Amino acid sequence: MKAIPLNREAGKHMQMPTAPLPKGAVKPKIFPEEEIEEEAKRLFEAIGQSSRWNMRICRSISPLTLEINQLKKEKDVFLIAHSYQTPDIVYGVADSVSDSYTLSKAARDAPQETILFSSVRFMAETAKIVSPHKLVLHPSPDAGCSLSDGISAEDVIKLKKKYPGVPVACYINTTASVKAECDVCVTSSNYLRICERLPGDKVIFVPDRFMGKHIQKHLEGSKEVIIFDGECEVHAEFTGEKVISWKERMSSIGVDLQVLAHPECDAGVLEESDFVGSSELLMKEAMRLASVGSNNIMLITECGTAERVLAESEHEINLLGSCVMCRHMKRTQLEDILQALREPEPEQIIEIDEGIIHRARKSLSEMFRLAE
Ligand code: 13P
Ligand code: SF4
Repeated sequence: MKAIPLNREAGKHMQMPTAPLPKGAVKPKIFPEEEIEEEAKRLFEAIGQSSRWNMRICRSISPLTLEINQLKKEKDVFLIAHSYQTPDIVYGVADSVSDSYTLSKAARDAPQETILFSSVRFMAETAKIVSPHKLVLHPSPDAGCSLSDGISAEDVIKLKKKYPGVPVACYINTTASVKAECDVCVTSSNYLRICERLPGDKVIFVPDRFMGKHIQKHLEGSKEVIIFDGECEVHAEFTGEKVISWKERMSSIGVDLQVLAHPECDAGVLEESDFVGSSELLMKEAMRLASVGSNNIMLITECGTAERVLAESEHEINLLGSCVMCRHMKRTQLEDILQALREPEPEQIIEIDEGIIHRARKSLSEMFRLAE
């Protein structure tokens, strides 16, 4: 995995993943030059990172975004993208961009009969579970996730046998068949609140061991948390020692560093953090801090969050430390989206057994009830 250093001085020019250029595997339609120029300017402004996403790159992706947006209109498709998708997707073609909780609600509530989910597989499956009558397209069928791929329905069944009657909470980063075995689903924006509200003095939490530990700490004295052994390969890269060393270096030069971390990080990182939250909450907190002048920020999460902060913050922000890219999230490119919109391959259409949908839906409905 590649850790990308974020350069303190760089501001809008900090070192980040390079822009994914079109692979040339899917040829977009030909558009008049003026239309391409206008679209390139729109992308350039919206992405707001003039060195990595310069006009030349924006021009080269414009035919793709133009055709995608045209097809979306013609076919009445709602395009959802997770925050970790690349800026060309987030600012070029997405109708809704956020964390997994907000996006599962967006999928449920969208009036369109077709949803295209630009993200990893479990998120597209979640969209199908909450809106089974809709056609859900997932452009990159092999975009997995180390958490959802690391646990099976059988693992949950075994835990339920070992601890009969104990409620099972599963992180949304799980397959439909795992969700079907759980009582309630949770996300990074509600896991503490929901686990706290479950009945009894024990809770089984799957599959993220770091979030499980965080819940255990939060519920110390009131509940025992039985934890599965999964982890996110991206957030597991960060360590408490690295955060401490950055804090010390910054404080030695009089910089007040604000550390914002995703809850998929280990306890050492979370203990050193000033704020813990979902990808969307991290972005909002970074922008809030910058708006009150506290703009030396360390974002401990996937690079997509930093990309969004750079694009959307109206205030100067110094992002310090490094971000890590999720190879699964970055699998989807504009060309995959265009191809899936034109004529999806069978594996790009989410199909889930009806019985599994029915049971998995209960755990998601329970999440919506307890989260709000
Ligand atoms: P969020 O719900 O915070 O966006 O998290 C999803 C995820 O996969 C983080 O790695
Ligand atoms: Fe899964 Fe981690 Fe990638 Fe999120 S960042 S999709 S949890 S591997």
